[in-house]
Amino acid sequence: MIVETCLLLVAAIVLVWIYSKRRFSYWSSKDVVCPPILPLIGHMNYFFKGQRWVSLHKFYLEFRKHKFYGLYEFFNPVLMITDPELLKLVLVKDFEYFVDRRRFGDQEGSLMTEMLTNKFGEEWKDLRAIMTPTFSSGKMRSMFHLISEKADNLVSFSLKNAVNNKPVDMKDMFGRFTMDTIASCAFGIECNSLSDSKPVFAEVAEKFFNFQGLKALKLTLMIVLPKLHNFLGFKVDDVEIEFFAKLAKENMELRKKGQSRGDFLDLLLNAKASEDDIRPGKKVFGEHTLVAQSVLFLVAGYDTTASALAFSSYNVAMNVHCQHRLRQELQELVKEHGSINYQGIMEAKYLDAVLMETLRLYPPGTIGERVCTKQYKIPDTDLIMNPGDLIQFPLWSIHHDPQYWPEPEEFKPERFLAENRGSIISFTHLPFGMGPRNCIAMRFALMEAKVALAQLILAAEIKLAPGHEKMELQDSPFLMRPKDGVMLMLTPLQKD
Ligand code: HEM
Repeated sequence: MIVETCLLLVAAIVLVWIYSKRRFSYWSSKDVVCPPILPLIGHMNYFFKGQRWVSLHKFYLEFRKHKFYGLYEFFNPVLMITDPELLKLVLVKDFEYFVDRRRFGDQEGSLMTEMLTNKFGEEWKDLRAIMTPTFSSGKMRSMFHLISEKADNLVSFSLKNAVNNKPVDMKDMFGRFTMDTIASCAFGIECNSLSDSKPVFAEVAEKFFNFQGLKALKLTLMIVLPKLHNFLGFKVDDVEIEFFAKLAKENMELRKKGQSRGDFLDLLLNAKASEDDIRPGKKVFGEHTLVAQSVLFLVAGYDTTASALAFSSYNVAMNVHCQHRLRQELQELVKEHGSINYQGIMEAKYLDAVLMETLRLYPPGTIGERVCTKQYKIPDTDLIMNPGDLIQFPLWSIHHDPQYWPEPEEFKPERFLAENRGSIISFTHLPFGMGPRNCIAMRFALMEAKVALAQLILAAEIKLAPGHEKMELQDSPFLMRPKDGVMLMLTPLQKD
């Protein structure tokens, strides 16, 4: 009996080994270089090893001369593209071959599968076209006063928390600010995170984004092995998504009763009402889809911008000369325009450079992704990509490559000033992705971050809090976020 069991075990191991060897020969059979592969899991160990973008950086440095290299997520092959010229083709010039990202979760009809981020092909194109006008420069200008009002609240609330030389967690402050801003601009909801001691909205969003431990594991499974994720009955987001969905539904009911505000939700409702005229017989925009976009905006509008702001404030606190230069630019703009207005924000070149450099060093999204949608031959190679094949681009690694960014770890906003911009190689700065499927809200996010940072720097001298000189980042396979907040000391400045 023991002998038979041992034989069966050996046979099973040999079969798995043969199967594994065959699946893991995909890249070598196509002459694509590939880092050492672990049995059964391929390169999944890097999902669970500290910050994935840092763990993968050594392969970027080793293989970038090949323009791309292969990875395996379990048995699934992924092509990691490292060359900016090739990225330009995939993301822009030959975009029609790489329209999609991978499906996030696989629960048909769930709110998540209805979000723009999760839509494919023509459906994505239609939805994106409907949503794009929300972020036109006209809309940005008209939203400016709302953002400015929230930024004033941010400054007063932060200074209130800084009394008696108390360090302030600016990640928390910026999270409250971005939640109040997106809720107000997108839905006309006043959620008062910047005055409540218990900011419910911001706390729910924070919980949603805290991908640690079991939650990170479930999310990884949902992305990499969605069928197994569903089979196991896992649900990553129930409570938080439901909270925002309920809010969006309630708000939509009010709008149907005629309470129009000219904001994002109104725009979506109008698009739904006129859908039949635009595309007879083609239903893209059910009520469920509409709720999904509302929730997406609340969620996407919260963490990325709050982290970008937290990283910016850390950088200017670390680099005192940059803080002085920034304050000087802003004070001159106030002198010229009377206050920080829309035009002043658009003219503030150093402010823009500070944010661009922050997003180079700390891009909240660290690895980009596309799915091949039509057969495509990678130019100057024999490699053919087929529909369904996955490509990724390691934007954090590109941002930290000394070939493109001399002294890549140094914070030098000057790189982005007009006199130096000419030497930036295109497709080496990708914090918002690039091409037709880039971040739809880039303009909104930048304006929001600029107003908040400008108001803060005009109101207070900021310094790193003692004992918090080094900012730690969360271990994560996905988003880059500060680990324990960003603790700063704020000293109010006298107004002239
Ligand atoms: C500093 C802040 C932000 C950063 C760094 C950021 C970054 C990104 C990145 C890297 C992508 C993927 C782009 C690609 O694949 O090429 C993306 C997509 C997206 N972002 Fe942002 N984002 C920010 C703020 C926002 C805000 C405020 C919103 C909503 C109000 C938003 C909504 C979206 C949506 C809906 C998509 C998916 C677009 C599509 O699939 O068509 N983002 N963002």
